[in-house]
Amino acid sequence: MIKYTLRTVGRMLVTGTGQSRFSGLSSRQVLTEDGAESAHNENLTKKASLYIHWPYCLKRCSYCNFNKYIAKGDNKHLVSQCLQQEVETLLQLSQVSCITSVFFGGGTPSLAHPSTISDILEAVARRTSLAGQAEVSLEVNPTPEGRTKLKDFSHAGVNRFSIGVQSLQDDDLTRLGRDHSAIQALQTIEEARKLCPGKVSIDIMFGRPGQSVASWEAELSELLRVCDDHASLYQLTPERGTLLFKQMQGAEVTLPGDHETADMYESARRTLHRHGFEQYEVSNFARNSAVSHHNMSYWKGRQYIGVGPGAHGRFVPLGDGGTHREARTQALEPDVWIREVQQRGHGTRRRIQLGHLELLEEVLVMGLRMTEGITHKHWQLFSPKLSLRDIFSSSTDVQEFLHCGHLTLNDGGLRCSWDGLALLDSMLPPLLMELQRQFHLRAPR
Ligand SMILES: C[S@@+](CC[C@H](N)C(=O)[O-])C[C@H]1O[C@@H](n2cnc3c(N)ncnc32)[C@H](O)[C@@H]1O
Ligand code: SF4
Repeated sequence: MIKYTLRTVGRMLVTGTGQSRFSGLSSRQVLTEDGAESAHNENLTKKASLYIHWPYCLKRCSYCNFNKYIAKGDNKHLVSQCLQQEVETLLQLSQVSCITSVFFGGGTPSLAHPSTISDILEAVARRTSLAGQAEVSLEVNPTPEGRTKLKDFSHAGVNRFSIGVQSLQDDDLTRLGRDHSAIQALQTIEEARKLCPGKVSIDIMFGRPGQSVASWEAELSELLRVCDDHASLYQLTPERGTLLFKQMQGAEVTLPGDHETADMYESARRTLHRHGFEQYEVSNFARNSAVSHHNMSYWKGRQYIGVGPGAHGRFVPLGDGGTHREARTQALEPDVWIREVQQRGHGTRRRIQLGHLELLEEVLVMGLRMTEGITHKHWQLFSPKLSLRDIFSSSTDVQEFLHCGHLTLNDGGLRCSWDGLALLDSMLPPLLMELQRQFHLRAPR
């Protein structure tokens, strides 16, 4: 069965459930010279992007299993203070001297007070430098409150808005538990475009209950009339533990079948292409080069620091010789996280030193999501001794993917074709197995 890769992997990586996506392929024990070498690379350790998680929402959408909570009282000020404190602590713990982008995600960060944004950006500036023209994005729920705060957010330092439109059908929005209407979403896009022209993105989901290819195409045409230069398209995924998952199990709700969803994806890709949007990642489309620099840094395997409840990070900490990248996860529950930040300056719950193979697995999985794929130069940055050709040239599975035209391995590097991108999930297990096999064959004993 074809499995599509349209989930929010960039976002999952920063606020996911904390489970390893590569269970069964553990390689933590394999630490090699190469790992130390690549981790030492100045470019990889001195710069990072920063993800800030705002953990509260006004209500729970039926499909969402992100780390979000309904606030019991008004503790916005306390959360804001703790976010600043954790930014300072984690920056100090890292070797980072430059933050290249900041992303305020959630939850619903547009519920935060705009001064939270400026205070956090000031905290960044106290500890390190924020790159000139750094992209500072904020996710906005397109409610009237979200819209009226846009101007203040932009004065506070936000220069890119990501608006959670999700659907232009009011019935759908109600069914999915959203707290805004389609017209409110359109008004929010309009206002955001006035404030940050060329820097407004929309999130939209397809494969929704009762959706047909024809209605999706009509909806997309309407969106194209109002949207700016960036769109993220996510296939609605029934996540365990959500109301949607329960409704599906009880046959109260059915989602379109695999073939219909595949048609929706293909038709959206073609339509966006016709309107000048370039697909640069499985779920992301931009025109006029308006790619998300922050998300690109995940897909390029760069360092990121995750701040706030449940946030994930990947960076090389100071100390321990300061050579190996760590996967870090902050405490999930806001109250627990607040206590820990108050007691020790940060709420890091889990630190796992990434072995070299694990790092390469991430570089492979994330890199193949980009349409440009993984160039030899990019791979070499992380793997100076084992090239893409060393790893993949002799694999029969890879030969098959190359033969079918789903993958390309040439002087440009390794990348998915147009068709291959939609099949990435099914190609990844054999690719990861081959990486693991070659790594163990060639690793020094
Ligand atoms: C977790 S939300 C946070 C931003 C904001 N609260 C909102 O709802 O727009 C980020 C994006 O994840 C996507 N998302 C969340 N759960 C999803 C699911 N089960 N399937 C597909 N996309 C999902 C939505 O498109 C959403 O815009
Ligand atoms: S508003 Fe966003 S984060 Fe909150 S429940 Fe809905 S999809 Fe999840």
